[in-house]
Amino acid sequence: MTLRVGVPTEVKPMEGRVGLTPAAVADVIAQGVRAGIQRGAGIASGYTDADYQAAGAELLDDADALYDWAQIVVKVKEPYGHEINLLRADHLLFCFLHLAANAELTRRLCEIGLTAVAFETLEDHGRLPILVPMSDIAGRISVQVAAHLLHTTQGGRGILLGGLASVERGNVVVLGAGHAGGASVRAAAALGANVSVFDTNPVRLEQMHGIGPNVTALTPTAHAIDAAVAEADALIGAVLLPGAAAPRLVSRAQVARMRSGSVIADIAVDQGGCIETTRATTYDAPTYVDEGVVHFCVTNMPGAVPRSATQALTAAMLPYLRLLLDPAWREDPRLRDAINVDRGRIVHPALQN
Ligand SMILES: NC(=O)c1ccc[n+]([C@@H]2O[C@H](COP(=O)([O-])OP(=O)(O)OC[C@H]3O[C@@H](n4cnc5c(N)ncnc54)[C@H](O)[C@@H]3O)[C@@H](O)[C@H]2O)c1
Repeated sequence: MTLRVGVPTEVKPMEGRVGLTPAAVADVIAQGVRAGIQRGAGIASGYTDADYQAAGAELLDDADALYDWAQIVVKVKEPYGHEINLLRADHLLFCFLHLAANAELTRRLCEIGLTAVAFETLEDHGRLPILVPMSDIAGRISVQVAAHLLHTTQGGRGILLGGLASVERGNVVVLGAGHAGGASVRAAAALGANVSVFDTNPVRLEQMHGIGPNVTALTPTAHAIDAAVAEADALIGAVLLPGAAAPRLVSRAQVARMRSGSVIADIAVDQGGCIETTRATTYDAPTYVDEGVVHFCVTNMPGAVPRSATQALTAAMLPYLRLLLDPAWREDPRLRDAINVDRGRIVHPALQN
């Protein structure tokens, strides 16, 4: 019988991404499987049901019908609310799961007895290829948002980040020069801001230094961070210690010394944040003011650009979905090591404690 791949509508609040674009649907169908999409699943990403039908997808009326029909479920976020009740032991689930932070969902998936492969644990040659584009998007958004929040109409101190003739440039300070921080640095440098970036990894610092003459790449000593933060118009947090809480690099006292109307965008908020005044926000109410500084600490920054994020996510994930369609997929070490729950048993080392 032909394998059936189903793509449901995302149900987490403000989540507009969809598991597959129509082009990706056509791609998997060309591999000899059937693809089904829940009606309306692509709308927030700008893809209509007709687009999916033209690509060869079968339309399923609602989540109940979709989960009932599918054997492999491809989606973006972890199962949420009612959709957990629709999962079965014979489903193979492929999506972001973040189970280390969700004991209840882990327990439910084990009870159901299914197999779940997590995007965020899929490693290929030392990289996390499905996570990378989301960090890249978050990095770019942090600069776009910071530039906007610096407008007085948004509570900012009323400067153009990039400056112009006879006008001083804005100062952007970025903590962490990985995928998110590196994207922030490139975006801020392209705007013409003065950018200072800190990272413990000298290779990353060299890469940042090469971006352009308006980028200063620095070792994160307490003194250097203190001096840079005091002058920052926009401070962006993007450090990561894999698997651990983000290190606190900026204290409340340092935030209090920033100029009133400056902006903080802490991308690392999903790991607790690297600035003492950070607290998690959502796109319903994305900002707050603390110590006179406008804070933007949204935990799902890519959610604001669902079309771009869907395209980036699909492009990164599709090569691995193709492998997953092979009955012998468990023989591929990248997929095998990304299994979090195998027929109801927790198998990923990060979850076994
Ligand atoms: N809020 C969102 O929507 C969103 C989206 C994507 C990623 N993120 C988060 O952004 C953070 C960064 O992700 P990434 O993919 O860029 O990680 P990454 O591993 O690519 O980069 C992290 C960088 O931090 C550096 N670092 C670690 N400790 C440091 C320290 N003490 N001082 C300076 N630099 C230090 C590392 O050397 C590395 O270069 C993560 O917490 C990730 O979960 C958030």
